[in-house]
Order: sequence, then C-alpha cells, then structure tokens
Amino acid sequence: MTAIDSTPVKSPPVDACVVAGSDHPRPDGQDRYTIREVAAYTGLSAPTLRWYEEIGLMPDVERSHTGQRVYGNRDLDWLSFVRRLRLTGMPVADMVHFAELVRRGEDTYDERRQIIDLYYMHRRDPAVPLAESVGAMAELVREGKVKHLGLSEVTGAELREAYAVHPITALQTEWSLFSRDVEHSAVGAAAELGVAFVPYSPLGRGFLTGAFTDASTELSSSDFRQLLPRFTGDNARANAALLAPLHKIAADHDATTAQIALAWVHHRSQVHGLTVVPIPGTRKRTRLLENAAATRITLTAEELALLEPIAGRVAGDRYADMSLTSAAREE
Ligand SMILES: NC(=O)c1ccc[n+]([C@@H]2O[C@H](COP(=O)([O-])OP(=O)(O)OC[C@H]3O[C@@H](n4cnc5c(N)ncnc54)[C@H](OP(=O)(O)O)[C@@H]3O)[C@@H](O)[C@H]2O)c1
Repeated sequence: MTAIDSTPVKSPPVDACVVAGSDHPRPDGQDRYTIREVAAYTGLSAPTLRWYEEIGLMPDVERSHTGQRVYGNRDLDWLSFVRRLRLTGMPVADMVHFAELVRRGEDTYDERRQIIDLYYMHRRDPAVPLAESVGAMAELVREGKVKHLGLSEVTGAELREAYAVHPITALQTEWSLFSRDVEHSAVGAAAELGVAFVPYSPLGRGFLTGAFTDASTELSSSDFRQLLPRFTGDNARANAALLAPLHKIAADHDATTAQIALAWVHHRSQVHGLTVVPIPGTRKRTRLLENAAATRITLTAEELALLEPIAGRVAGDRYADMSLTSAAREE
C-alpha cells in the first residue's frame, strides 16, 4: 500500500481549471523551455503552472542559476498527462493523489520491471490471430522482461497453436465441480504438452463452500456475482440443492465442503496426468490454510461417483456473456 498525503489542496488560481494543452505546436529541437513558453504551449498561465508545482501536481521543475524555472520535455509530457487527467473530470485534489501514485510508480519502474515470472494473456482478442498475440508475448521473453508465458480461457486447439509459437507454462481457466467444460479439450492438451493447469474459481466462486441456500437473495447488492446466471433467480436455489452429496462427503471426512471441492479438482488432475495449481480466492488466513489442507484428502470411488453428475445438472452458464470463454469456441 502506498501512503498518500491527503492534505486538502488550497484554492486554485483563477484559470487553474483550464484544460492544459493548447493547439500550439510543441517547440521542436529543444528541451529547455521558459515558463512563458510552457504557458503558451499548454494554455495554462504562469501562476497556474507555479501552483501545480506547489500542490504537487507537477514534479519540482529545474531552476537556472538565476532561479528561473527551466522546463524539459519530460515536464511537457507530464503536463499532457495532467491534461488527460483533467479531461476525466477528476477533482484537483484527486488528481494530486493520482499523480503522486504515478510518480512513485515511475520511480520504482526500473526495479519493478526487472523480470515478470509468469506473464498471462487473460483473454484472447478474437480480432487478433492468436499466433500474433503469443508472438508479441514471446518477444518479451526474448527481451528478458518475462520468464514464462501463460494463457487463460483458450481451447485445447488454441493452446496447441500458441505452444507452436512459444512454450506455454500455465493455462488458467475455470475448473470446478460446477464447471467442467475445460475437460472437453483444454485439460487434455495441457497434459499432453506438459502445461500446468491453474483452475480458477475452483470453489464455484464460493457456491461450493455451501455458503448459499438462495444466493439470489443472500448476495449484497454490490456483489458482482449477482450478474452471474448461477447465482440468480431459480438457478440459485436449484444449484444449492445440488450440494447435498458434497455436504455428506464433507461430514464423513470431518472436512468442509470447500475442501472436498478442492480435493475433487486435485483428483481430476491426477486422472488427466496434469500438474494443477488451483487458486481458491479468500480474504481469510484461516481459510487459506484450510484450503491448502485439502490436498491431504483422498476421495473414494463411491464418493467420486456421487460428485460426478453435479456439473451436468448445474443451472445457468458460468458467465452471462460466454463469448470470451474457451467454452464458446470449443468445436
Ligand atoms: N483467469 C480469469 O479469467 C479469472 C476469472 C475469475 C477469477 N480468477 C481468479 O481465480 C481466483 C479465485 O477465484 P474466485 O475468488 O472468483 O472464486 P473461488 O475461489 O471459487 O471462490 C472464492 C469464494 O469462496 C470463499 N472461500 C474461499 N475459501 C473458503 C473456505 N475455505 N470456506 C468458505 N468460503 C471460502 C471466498 O470468501 P472469503 O474471501 O470471504 O473467504 C470467496 O467468496 C482469484 O485469484 C481470481 O483472480 C481468474
């Protein structure tokens, strides 16, 4: 977390809210400007430019030996950025805070960009050939900026196509007792190519934890899951009823339904000869430990048989708009 000084900003000079950036052409061939030149270029008055600096919206500007401000091209770029911020309608105080965040990011940029271990493309752009996207990612590996490449929500055929361009280290797609469409082709292709599978939402976005009896009325109005078909209307109640075997198996193992749901994912990975790294999301440390402990649970053949039909009976798609999922492109 970055601490930001939230001291209220003093009143601006009269024209401080004029949008910076005029039609004046940027002076070429030089990188040192007087405040008057910058004012002409940006359409901001000299008092406004000084005020931007005073409130921290502008980094400290270099001074000449006579104490005059000397602006550089970086400063002009920064003022263009401020203009874009201003165009969003952001209040000046918020702009100051945001600018501070961006500056801190730039300061640590070199440090942060050293190497990204695993760089994912989370959705393929249907308008761009996959080989082109993966080719661009591979370029980052060649430049030493990234170590490994990952994809999300691609079909088995697409994974193979991508792999032919550059080895893919991980495939991240939804996989759980409620969502098994990846077993159609993606899981098999990942196993064959030696790509690790990262099942996201392995707890059915919380549904498989047994937290809901009627999610359509139990979710807060700000919870995005209200937009997901499985959590709404009649689907919500029908899907809760599917969890009966899960509750029974959990009780028999003295475990939670979340743990049984995760143990099932691990079991399926073994069936497919696949390395999996499920990523259940939680805000609680105790649940993190609980979920990790699921790897120690082994389900019996009878238990697996009880769990087998659940996915086929789930009411509602995993997204309201399935067009960007791999399932939509499976043949
Ligand atoms: N690649 C993609 O397109 C994509 C899409 C969606 C999600 N993801 C990633 O997948 C990960 C997890 O997905 P998710 O959070 O949507 O779904 P999830 O892991 O299936 O479910 C998370 C929900 O389960 C609850 N929970 C977790 N452990 C629990 C436990 N032991 N007992 C009871 N409740 C438990 C959490 O509540 P608490 O927080 O209150 O514990 C949270 O509401 C995230 O890292 C997310 O970024 C990736």
